[in-house]
Amino acid sequence: MKALILAGGSGTRLRPLTHTASKQLVPIANKPILFYGLEAIAECGITEVGIVVGHTAVEVKAAVGDGSNFGLKVTYLPQDAPRGLAHAVLIAREFLGDEDFVMYLGDNFLVGGVSDIVQGFIERDASTAARILLARVPDPRKFGVAEIAGDGSVLRLVEKPDNPPSDLALVGVYLFDHHIHEAVADIEPSARGELEITDAISWLIEHGFGVNSSMVDGYWKDLGDPEALLEGNRIALMAIRPLIMGEVIDSQVDGPVLIEAGARIVDSIIRGPAVIGRDASLQSCYVGPFSAIGDRCSISASEVVNSIILSDSIVDDVGAIEGSVIGKFATICHRNERPRATKLVVGDHARVELL
Ligand code: G1P
Repeated sequence: MKALILAGGSGTRLRPLTHTASKQLVPIANKPILFYGLEAIAECGITEVGIVVGHTAVEVKAAVGDGSNFGLKVTYLPQDAPRGLAHAVLIAREFLGDEDFVMYLGDNFLVGGVSDIVQGFIERDASTAARILLARVPDPRKFGVAEIAGDGSVLRLVEKPDNPPSDLALVGVYLFDHHIHEAVADIEPSARGELEITDAISWLIEHGFGVNSSMVDGYWKDLGDPEALLEGNRIALMAIRPLIMGEVIDSQVDGPVLIEAGARIVDSIIRGPAVIGRDASLQSCYVGPFSAIGDRCSISASEVVNSIILSDSIVDDVGAIEGSVIGKFATICHRNERPRATKLVVGDHARVELL
């Protein structure tokens, strides 16, 4: 069994963070989303992993390296443009050979791992060529949607339908045997110009191969937009291992809080779950529940709650920040000069909500 992890794509809904960075490397609880997937794969006992990379290949390679930190052996598979999930399988043909594999979308966050479903696929009956994971969602139009029979076998799949046949969304974890290669080679691009994995799976069904499904029993989220990212951050923070490695001076730390080495907390209150990155500096501030403060950030005379602040950013004397996602090397500060107007230098596709 091998794994194919998708870490390409443009991440348009996470702009401006993804103008410069890979969406799979945006952190929740200070750890890149992609790393949770790699850990889940390693936990299944799989070692050979192909990572499909796009225009952010350099960054992904720098973060993951040869995979040895995760106990994995990683091969990078470059995709020239986001041409669809089935296209990723197409270009991975040589790497995958004829082995079974799990395909894992690098922006999907699952709590509880995938060991059980991988094991279930290993023990499948001979007629089964693929297995998909499903979750009930309030708005299925944003996902691939499945229609299933009483025994869980998949009857039909549609990609982002206007009139969904059910509320069962496809989770970004799929299991395939070698028949999928025939399918991805035979389908045509969809209306949005991509080779859809839903079409490839439908091809399997139409050609008489068994495709079955199981429901995710834990938390799952496609972390494709800021609201989802903040929710994923809250869930990930609830699972942190509280530990104080930094320096805490004249401050109060309540609840599960991870303070990394080199961080310095002075005259502040931190209420967990929260994580404070390496070498961060906090002075006279309140960091409230569900906040992830990145490495080397400097937060002073401010309050931060339910927010993600990426590394190397400065927040100084700005009152309270809530439900916010702030990129790397950003500065948010109080303006003392006249005119007493808001002064902004924000990136393309940014969103700023003023009081
Ligand atoms: C992709 C798949 C979709 C699936 C979703 C899960 O959509 O095409 O079927 O439900 O991942 O995250 P995308 O996020 O690429 O729009």
